[in-house]
Amino acid sequence: MTQYIAAMDQGTTSTRCILFGHDGKIVASDQIEHAQIFPKPGWVEHNPIEIIENTYSVLRNALQKADLTAKDVASIGITNQRETTIVWNRYTGLPYQNAIVWQDTRTAELCELLARRHGGQDRFRAKTGLPISVYFSGIKLRWLFDHIEGLYEEAVKGNLLFGTVDSWLIWNLTGGPDHGIHCTDVTNASRTMLMNLKTLSWDQEILDELDIPSAILPRILPSSAEFGHCRIDQAEIPITGILGDQQAALFGQTCFTAGEVKNTYGTGCFMLLNTGSVPVQSKNGLITTVGYQIGSLPPVYCLEGSIAVTGALVQWLRDNLKLITSSSEIESLAREVPDNGDVYVVPAFSGLFAPYWCSDARGIIVGLTRFANRGHIARAVLEATAFQTQEVLEAMEKDSGVNIRMMKVDGGMVVNELLMQFQSDILGVPIVRPQVAETTALGAAYAAGLAIGYWKSLSELRDNWAIDKTWIPQMDADQRIRLCARWKKAVSKSFDWV
Ligand code: G3P
Repeated sequence: MTQYIAAMDQGTTSTRCILFGHDGKIVASDQIEHAQIFPKPGWVEHNPIEIIENTYSVLRNALQKADLTAKDVASIGITNQRETTIVWNRYTGLPYQNAIVWQDTRTAELCELLARRHGGQDRFRAKTGLPISVYFSGIKLRWLFDHIEGLYEEAVKGNLLFGTVDSWLIWNLTGGPDHGIHCTDVTNASRTMLMNLKTLSWDQEILDELDIPSAILPRILPSSAEFGHCRIDQAEIPITGILGDQQAALFGQTCFTAGEVKNTYGTGCFMLLNTGSVPVQSKNGLITTVGYQIGSLPPVYCLEGSIAVTGALVQWLRDNLKLITSSSEIESLAREVPDNGDVYVVPAFSGLFAPYWCSDARGIIVGLTRFANRGHIARAVLEATAFQTQEVLEAMEKDSGVNIRMMKVDGGMVVNELLMQFQSDILGVPIVRPQVAETTALGAAYAAGLAIGYWKSLSELRDNWAIDKTWIPQMDADQRIRLCARWKKAVSKSFDWV
């Protein structure tokens, strides 16, 4: 009987299920968006119950579309928005409050306090690979204990469980309050600022510093391993893969060799460079993270450049400014003008992540004159993604000593031809889009499939990868240098606003 791998991709804006066949091709998929909750400026929340309900729905819908049942699924791989923090009651299964999303900046003051106490912003970097920032889960968890009455006592009594979205999903899928399995994988754990990159276990010193009881934390497992079984519709499907979504995209792009790099253009943009079995510490504003770990093999590490806002800026143009009615319209609007008219948009909505790590920056539009029109703003919005990526690539080359000659790309924005050409121009590097652009889901499926022998080896996965399109740089170097300098000047205007 032919069987398939189901990838559950729980992202920032939606939840998807994609069913893959052995050739790595998509058999069927389904997707449901969930509410973005903005209670105050800078706060971003999701409802964990809505997310788990959507997870079941997309799995059932995808199976129905392919005329399959749960028994046709050989295993499930989970991939997820990272860092987003959930606390729930282990007996009722109910969250104590909404998930605090990775983009949320409510912990800015706490971050400052922690950095000031001693050691500065990089005091946990040697152990975790991360600077102190609003981005990471451990600090969000500490904030919850400080601000929700009785929550810390719940943790001490043993009633409370903490998890990133992967842990929330797997605990629910494997039985919830009855016998739910409380675990995570090394990639997600590496985004909490609580895991030691070398030992791959929770770091007691950091837990003590943040006063976090270790009993509330999930068990850390490799990315491709036996996590548990999802009981659904009279079937028991093994769950054998978990990867944070950006690491999953790296895996789906088959960047298995040190020096290979991918950039995913989604809500934000995340460039990951495989650095092999060695965690390389960044000196240029990147972070060090676990890329993946297959079973008992040693982990593979990455340098990552995380950009908080790229696709989300296009959504903002659509939903808040109403300059476009659908995201895809931005390309034709931007094409109405030959260049940006010297307008720059710096989308520091969550402060700035890599390479600045500046929580007090805020978004700005600069360079406006009476000449500027909707087209220039649309163009500047798209270019903001390319310029931010250029700054990350520059840092990546400095940190790794690797001269990046080609970059694999994926994610929702790579259908935008104008952006992709401009990106290649601004980087001065060819960029390549693969035939299966759903690399995040594919990576989770690969991790799950490897664990059960559905796929036998990494080279078998590599054989599934094929080029769809390549963009070659066309801009001359002088112009590239001039535009990048204008961008840096624009960024300097966004600092120190809060
Ligand atoms: O670190 C945040 C990242 O995992 C979010 O990815 O694709 O859901 O925007 P995405």
